[in-house]
Amino acid sequence: MKAKMTKLLHRLKNTVSSSPLDKATAVQYAYRLILGREPSAAEVLAHLGHPDLQALRRSFFESQEFRSNYRWLCGATLSGYEPPLSVQDWVDPATLKRLFVHIQASWRTIGEQEPYWSVLSADEYKLANIQGRLEEFYRSGWESFHLLVNTMKRNGLDDRLEDKTLLEYGCGVGRVTNVLAQKFKRVHAYDVSTSHLALARQVTDSLGLANVHYVAVQSLRDMQELPQVDMAYSIIVLQHNPPPIIRLILESMLDALKPGGTALFQLLTYQEGYSFRVEEYLSSPRPAQIEMHVLPQQRVFEIIADKRCRVLEVLDDALAGYRKGQLSNTFLVQKR
Ligand SMILES: C[S@@+](CC[C@H](N)C(=O)[O-])C[C@H]1O[C@@H](n2cnc3c(N)ncnc32)[C@H](O)[C@@H]1O
Repeated sequence: MKAKMTKLLHRLKNTVSSSPLDKATAVQYAYRLILGREPSAAEVLAHLGHPDLQALRRSFFESQEFRSNYRWLCGATLSGYEPPLSVQDWVDPATLKRLFVHIQASWRTIGEQEPYWSVLSADEYKLANIQGRLEEFYRSGWESFHLLVNTMKRNGLDDRLEDKTLLEYGCGVGRVTNVLAQKFKRVHAYDVSTSHLALARQVTDSLGLANVHYVAVQSLRDMQELPQVDMAYSIIVLQHNPPPIIRLILESMLDALKPGGTALFQLLTYQEGYSFRVEEYLSSPRPAQIEMHVLPQQRVFEIIADKRCRVLEVLDDALAGYRKGQLSNTFLVQKR
């Protein structure tokens, strides 16, 4: 009986991998069953190259779409057996400046080429496809805002925002900024890329908001001299900076908090195989691209304690895509 079944399965597997029509059907069913939606013709075509059902199944379960939309089915991204990471997060001031100049140049170029896609990296937000999709792009800012408020509420924080000032570090094209500005008394929005800022400002003006103060970060000093605020906020920004810069931004953001003030920030705290040595980093050519970097949790906790803040919550999030071997965390902290 078992042998018969194995033979049958083998025949089915071969049929599926040899006939393009059946392969297309398998792909279509995989979309329905695993991703819960119908595929486009292009999506079916893109999957026809898998050699067998196992490869097809694997590509679906490992896809970003499945891992982001069905997180609860994926389990933890880390097993607990991961090795320590070697991450240099201290450098001398001259080297820190070199890192900053590189990040500034990179983000300015990316901002000129693909401002929206650089914020949410989906094909539909490339300039060639963005027409008719801007409303949906900016609507996603409300989701980030609701998540912020919900996190505050869960931790017993005062969520009356209308009297509070907020600093957003790395505001991009104002996706969340312009929602925050409708809720907070005043928003200080910082970004290193002038083209991102110009687009953010356009939205602010079109909404008739007069309470956003945009700042182009031009130097390390700008990064260090942040205004005193009730709340600091930064998502999908720190992960794009080398660890010594992540450290500097975090320290500055926590320095900017008034007593009792809170900060919510997200960063990558683990990535299998990641390491950072500044000499190695600066010695290889670096084209303008979206880089991914990590600062381990233990260093983040040290910075929080050094800046006289206490941790209220550390949440595993899917902001960097929820990949196996990678951990992205959202921290909620409060100044003592
Ligand atoms: C992926 S986008 C996210 C934008 C925004 N936080 C959002 O969620 O819509 C990252 C933004 O951070 C900015 N950025 C990256 N590194 C920065 C730094 N060191 N200082 C200031 N801005 C930075 C980039 O210019 C870009 O606009």
